[in-house]
Parts: sequence; C-alpha cells; structure tokens
Amino acid sequence: MINTKLRKNIKGKEEIINLFKEKKIDKDWSFAQYKPSDTGKWTHSYHRYPAKFIPQLVEKLIDEYAPKVGASINDPFMGCGTTIVSAISKGFKASGTDINKIAYLITKAKSIPIEPDHLDKEIKRFLDKLQFLGNVKPLIPQKHLNRINYWFTEDIREELGKILRVIYDTDNEVIRDFFLVAFSHILKSCSIWLQGSTKPTRDLNKIPSKPYIALKRHLMKMQKGNNNFYNIVPEHIKKDVNRYLNIKIGDARKQPVPDNSVDLIISSSPYVTSYEYADLHQLSTIWLDLTDDLVNYKKGFIGTSYKKYENKRLKSTIAIDIVNEIYKKDKKTAKEIEAFFIDMEEVFDESFRILKPGGRCCYVIGDTKLKGIDVLNAEVFAESLHYSGFKLDRIIKREIPSKILPQKRDEKTGRFANSKEANTEAYPIEYIVIGLKE
Ligand SMILES: C[S@@+](CC[C@H](N)C(=O)[O-])C[C@H]1O[C@@H](n2cnc3c(N)ncnc32)[C@H](O)[C@@H]1O
Repeated sequence: MINTKLRKNIKGKEEIINLFKEKKIDKDWSFAQYKPSDTGKWTHSYHRYPAKFIPQLVEKLIDEYAPKVGASINDPFMGCGTTIVSAISKGFKASGTDINKIAYLITKAKSIPIEPDHLDKEIKRFLDKLQFLGNVKPLIPQKHLNRINYWFTEDIREELGKILRVIYDTDNEVIRDFFLVAFSHILKSCSIWLQGSTKPTRDLNKIPSKPYIALKRHLMKMQKGNNNFYNIVPEHIKKDVNRYLNIKIGDARKQPVPDNSVDLIISSSPYVTSYEYADLHQLSTIWLDLTDDLVNYKKGFIGTSYKKYENKRLKSTIAIDIVNEIYKKDKKTAKEIEAFFIDMEEVFDESFRILKPGGRCCYVIGDTKLKGIDVLNAEVFAESLHYSGFKLDRIIKREIPSKILPQKRDEKTGRFANSKEANTEAYPIEYIVIGLKE
C-alpha cells in the first residue's frame, strides 16, 4: 500500500515519459575520449564480464555525490565489481552482492590490492611449479565431466585439471583467488566455445589456446594491473582492506548492511531475458564447481527467462502498460517482463532501506525492444523509485560510444548477440536514473 503523502510525490506516467523524451544527451557522460587501456586500468581487466561499467562513469558519480571522506558505497548487482573497486580506490567503504558466484570471486580478487613484491614471488613460485606437472593428478570435477568433455579437448582438460590442482594447493586465500580468476578468464580461449560469441556455441574447427601459455600471459597482465592499483589505493585500505570491503554472494534484495547506513548506490541491473549470466559463465561454474544444480541456480537470477509470479502485483503503471501490450503478442514473455519489474521494485525498496537520508541511488539502464514493443526500462525504474519512497532527483541521458558498446541486440528476443547474429544495432543511448532519499 502506498501512503497518501507519498502518492502526491509520484509523477503521472505521462509526466515521466515526457521527462525522458525531452531529455538531451549530456556529452560529459559519454567518456568517448577513453581508450581500452583507460577503461581497463588497475584491476579492471582481470576478467571479461558482459555489460560491465566503465570505471570513469562510476568515479564521476562518486565525485559528484559521495561525501569526500568516509563514504559508504553500495552496488546490489556488483557484477565484476567496477563500483566496488572504484569505491576502494578512493578509500571508501564498499558493500554489495551478486547472485553469480563467479562475479563474487572476480570482485573479491579485484578489490584486494596485493603488495607487489609478495605477488611477484608468488607468481614466480606458481609458474615454476607448473613446469613440472608430469606427476600431478588432474583435478577435474567429476560431476561436471560431461560438460567439461563437451567444451574441452582431452589434452587441454588434462592440463587445466593439473593447473587447477596446483592452484588449490596454494595456502594463501588472496593469492589463490588471484590465480583462480586468471584460470577462469582463460577458460573460454582454451575451450571450443565459438570465439566472440556470447551464446554457448561450439566451434569444432577452433584451435584452443594452450593453458600454460594463456595463463602466464594473463597473469603478467593482472600483475601489472595489481601493481598500478596498489600504488593508488590509500594506506588505510592497504592496512586492513577487509574492514572496508563487505561483499557477499546473494540476492540484490538483501544487502549485507544496516538501515540508513549507505551514502551512495551505483548499480546497473540485469536486462530482462538479455543475458543468461549463469549460462555465459558456465565454463567457470563447472571447473570451479560452483553449483550442483544449474537449473535452480539460474532461478535466482533477476531478468532470467522462465520466471513468473502468480501472486505479486506490479505497482508501476508504465510497466503494467508494457506487460499488457506484450501479453497480446506473447504471454510467456509478458510474464517474464512482469516478474523482472516486480523484482526490481523490491530491489528499490531495499535501496531505500539501506540509504541514509540525503543519500542517492544511481541506476544505469537503457530502454529496449521486445516482440516489437518498446520496453521503457528507464521510465519504469523512475516511476518505481517513487513507489519505493525516492524523489526523482536527476536523469542523465548518455551516449555509449561505439567502441565501448558491448554487443548488438536481437530485436525479437532482446538478447545480446554478436554483430553477425543480431539483426539490429545495440541501443547507443542509456540513462542514469538517480533517486534521492529525502
Ligand atoms: C549488468 S550486470 C552488472 C555489471 C556491473 N555493473 C559491473 O560493472 O560489472 C548485472 C548483474 O546482476 C547480477 N544479478 C542477477 N540477478 C541477481 C540477483 N537476484 N541478485 C544479485 N545480483 C543479480 C548478474 O549476475 C550480473 O552480474
């Protein structure tokens, strides 16, 4: 139930839709001048991740909206941790969740700066051990053997299994995580997963990379990233990073922080039915044995297909209109979109709970098209933020420079696909929808 005072604050749906229509692109938020070496600075290029932020966007939001000292920053959909790393780099507290176990591992490794000499010794020792793999028994998770055999040739899986055994023998958890992230990153190039495809497709003609060579190359890159990160992270963080880092594997609707404790939330939600993150990361999931039950694991993801609610109701009237339009064309898709918007309304309620009065949440989101119908995600988010108690503080309309665009989208399914697979361009515009807790 929405109380009457709050209802007065809520703009009508036409008003919200017009606000977005009238919005002009703000060039200050395109970051077109940045090269991949800028967006992949520090630990940001440890691991590929679909639809990740560029760090410059997060840093600009922090600079504009976070207190200059002692800020607490949160990201309920932290992905590979761009917000978390940015907060740590500025000496702030960082909290967040992701339901994807590999996202958690990547974020953890990226956020903990390692003393460069110590890391150098550990990498050398590790690479030395990998010279003598002859008698090492490969560690190949037996319950995922069918999937591993499906994606990897015999010689490659043997070598990967031996490397994995050596990694798990590493006592120091921080160093072990560092190696695991490198291992996870090379899995795609070492497999017969079709190069450049986000869909799990095999390429039987592909010549997979050799694990040791790929791993060594990537470790060198990560080492450089760590050392640069270490140099800019403030001393108080280096002394005790765990005091400042509060991240969990878990649902965006349950943040690991008390009421009224966070200054700023910077996040980008999943898109409805666009990426099946659990499928995309299946190579890491099977090798690192992250789930026994892929089907159930997938159900925890917001925006996933095959999800519907029978006894929850949407509040956003813009969302209800979209669901009704799509329902005329495809009932199942309509139910999935409804479930997505309901889940997001609950995420916004949680954002409201954890923010301090005066705090803001910034959600980065683009509009999409499904079954030929415009899905006004950003407009729905703006309306939903009102229902959670926020004042709509600002809308930033930004262009996504073509070199940063992740992929193209298929107009029929809304899924991301590579340029050959898609029949429409990806959306070059997105919004930052900012809510203020007064
Ligand atoms: C667009 S990505 C976020 C990328 C992130 N901004 C970055 O820079 O890496 C959306 C994330 O939401 C996560 N996710 C999906 N359902 C979730 C849920 N129920 N709770 C928490 N995270 C979820 C996905 O695993 C994915 O990592």
